[in-house]
Amino acid sequence: MNPVLECTQIRHTFGRGELAEDVLRGVSVAFDAGETCLLMGPSGSGKTTLLSILGCLLTPTGGRLVVNGEVVDPKSKNRLSRLRREKIGFVFQHAQLLPVLTVRENLDVVARNGGLSGRSLRLRVDGLLERLGIAAVRAKWPDQLSGGQRQRAAVARALLNRPTILLADEPTASLDWEHGEATVRLLVEQAKQEGALLLVVTHDTRMLPYFRRHLHIRRGVLHEDRTP
Ligand SMILES: Nc1ncnc2c1ncn2[C@@H]1O[C@H](COP(=O)(O)OP(=O)(O)OP(=O)(O)O)[C@@H](O)[C@H]1O
Ligand SMILES: [Mg+2]
Repeated sequence: MNPVLECTQIRHTFGRGELAEDVLRGVSVAFDAGETCLLMGPSGSGKTTLLSILGCLLTPTGGRLVVNGEVVDPKSKNRLSRLRREKIGFVFQHAQLLPVLTVRENLDVVARNGGLSGRSLRLRVDGLLERLGIAAVRAKWPDQLSGGQRQRAAVARALLNRPTILLADEPTASLDWEHGEATVRLLVEQAKQEGALLLVVTHDTRMLPYFRRHLHIRRGVLHEDRTP
């Protein structure tokens, strides 16, 4: 089976000259469809940077990225946005919902971009709102939500178009354990159902048992716990 997501010798440097910071120093890793993976590491170790590169949101300084069998060329913007729209679901560390749209509208926009409309759009959006426990706040604007509700709306948005690659940056950071666990279960369940790759960044070691692969990043280098 070909990996659904693969990177080779990814390097990333922020800044120039004296201020240059080598955040990723040659990261190579491959993920198969249906895998559940956790990425951990100290604050500032490059987790968000790596996830952003894997999600085609940030162009690395060097290295090669293959998404769904396609070598990513940072220069072809149209292909990049198509890959992001059709293949990748991304939960941002700080939710990043559109502030001028309600929760419901935030989801509708993404669902429409994914080709849903009418009754199938309503069913999909309402189903996810219910499952994530935020149906009651669907008409609110993001700044009227609690941090946890915002985060759950961001998870719903990432799941909408049934991506084959699901990347989540600390999706449970602003949730209590109960909601955090429910969210992780939903992500894992959804990934299994769709045969999608799930890669989650977290600091919460209680999440470990839900994931098959455990990756760590330290000083820009990726390590993997090989558990049988
Ligand atoms: N846009 C940027 N410009 C310059 N430096 C950046 C930028 N984004 C991140 N960095 C730096 O790169 C390093 C890695 O940042 P990154 O956000 O990837 O860390 P992280 O592992 O996700 O941390 P956290 O657990 O706190 O979210 C940090 O030292 C950060 O200051
Ligand atoms: Mg981060």
